Amino acid sequence: MNMTINFCGVTFPNPTVLASGILGVVGDSLKNVVINGAGGVTSKSVWLTRHDGHPGPVMMGTQNFYINAVGLPDGGIEKAREELKKYMEWNESQPEEKQVPLIGNIVAGSIKDFAEIAKGMRQIGPDIIEVNISCPNVEDEFGRPFAHCAISAGAATEIVKKNAGKIPVIVKLSPNVGNIGEIAKACEASGAEGLTVANTFGPGMVIDIDTAEPILANKVGGVSGPGIKPLAVKKVWDTASAVKIPIIGMGGVMTGRDVIEFMMAGASLVGIGAGVYYRGVEVFSSVVAEIEEWMVENKVANLQNIVGKALKK
Ligand SMILES: Cc1cc2nc3c(=O)[nH]c(=O)nc-3n(C[C@H](O)[C@H](O)[C@H](O)COP(=O)(O)O)c2cc1C
Repeated sequence: MNMTINFCGVTFPNPTVLASGILGVVGDSLKNVVINGAGGVTSKSVWLTRHDGHPGPVMMGTQNFYINAVGLPDGGIEKAREELKKYMEWNESQPEEKQVPLIGNIVAGSIKDFAEIAKGMRQIGPDIIEVNISCPNVEDEFGRPFAHCAISAGAATEIVKKNAGKIPVIVKLSPNVGNIGEIAKACEASGAEGLTVANTFGPGMVIDIDTAEPILANKVGGVSGPGIKPLAVKKVWDTASAVKIPIIGMGGVMTGRDVIEFMMAGASLVGIGAGVYYRGVEVFSSVVAEIEEWMVENKVANLQNIVGKALKK
C-alpha cells in the first residue's frame, strides 16, 4: 500500500500536512507534529519584520467551527530562520524514509515586501514556499486581500517566483471570492507551481448575547473547522477544474474520510488546521490510520490514483 504523494517534485510520506498558523514557527512544535504522523508541516505566515497581531480575545470555538482574528502576529524572518533551521537540521538527521518536507509560508503587505520576504525564505531553504495572499487583514493598495483580484494575485506570485530561486512556489488562495478558478488561473499563468485552497472563510462574527457585543476584540474573524468543510471541498473542486497545477486542499478536515473526500475533489495533499484543536496533535496519526483502513477496505493500492477521481465522472 502506497500513501506517498509527489507534490511539486517533493516527496510527502502521506497526504496530511499541518496547516499554516496552527502551531507557529517553533522548531520543536513542528518536530512534534511530525513525530505524531504528519506527512508535511507548514510554518505560520512569516513577515519581513516583527508584526503585532490583534488584541484578545482573538479566537473562540464550538463543536462546529472556530473563528479567529489573531492578525498574523510574528517575530519576523530572522526569528523564523532560527526556528525553521532547528526543524530542518533535526529532519535531515532522520533516516531518509522518515524525512518530512517543510513548507515555509510567507506574507507581506506590498509587492516590494513580497520580493524581500521571498529572498529571506529562499535563504532558509524550505522544500516549498507558500505565499499567503489571502489573509483578510492583509490588503493591496486598493484595500483588498491580494487574492481577491486576479491582477494582484498574479503580481504577488510573479515577484515571489522571481526571488525564490529553485524552490517551488505555491500560492494560498482565499475562498471568499466569486470565481476562485479565475484567480487560480492568474497564479498559474504567473508561475505558481501549486495552490493551497483555502484560507479561512468569512469574515464571520459571533455575538455574546449576555453582553450584546461581538466576542472577538476585532469583532470579525476568519472561520475554520468542521462547518466549512462542504464549502472548502467545492472551492477545491472549482480550482482543480480550472488549473493543471497540484493543490493542497483544506478546511474542516477531521478524519481520514475527509482527506479522501478532498483528494477526490482534486487535492493532492490535505491540510489539517482546526482539527488539531479538536483531536489533539495525535490527529495526524489517527487520520493516517483511518486513510489506511479505507484503502484496505476499498482495495486502493496507490493513494495518488484517487486525486480528482470525483471530477472525472
Ligand atoms: C488560529 C489560526 C491561525 C491561522 N494562521 C494562519 C497563518 O498564519 N497563515 C495562513 O496562511 N493561514 C492561517 N490560518 C488558516 C489555516 O491555515 C487554514 O487555511 C484554515 O484554518 C482552514 O483549515 P481548518 O478548517 O483545517 O482550520 C490560520 C487558522 C487559524 C485557525
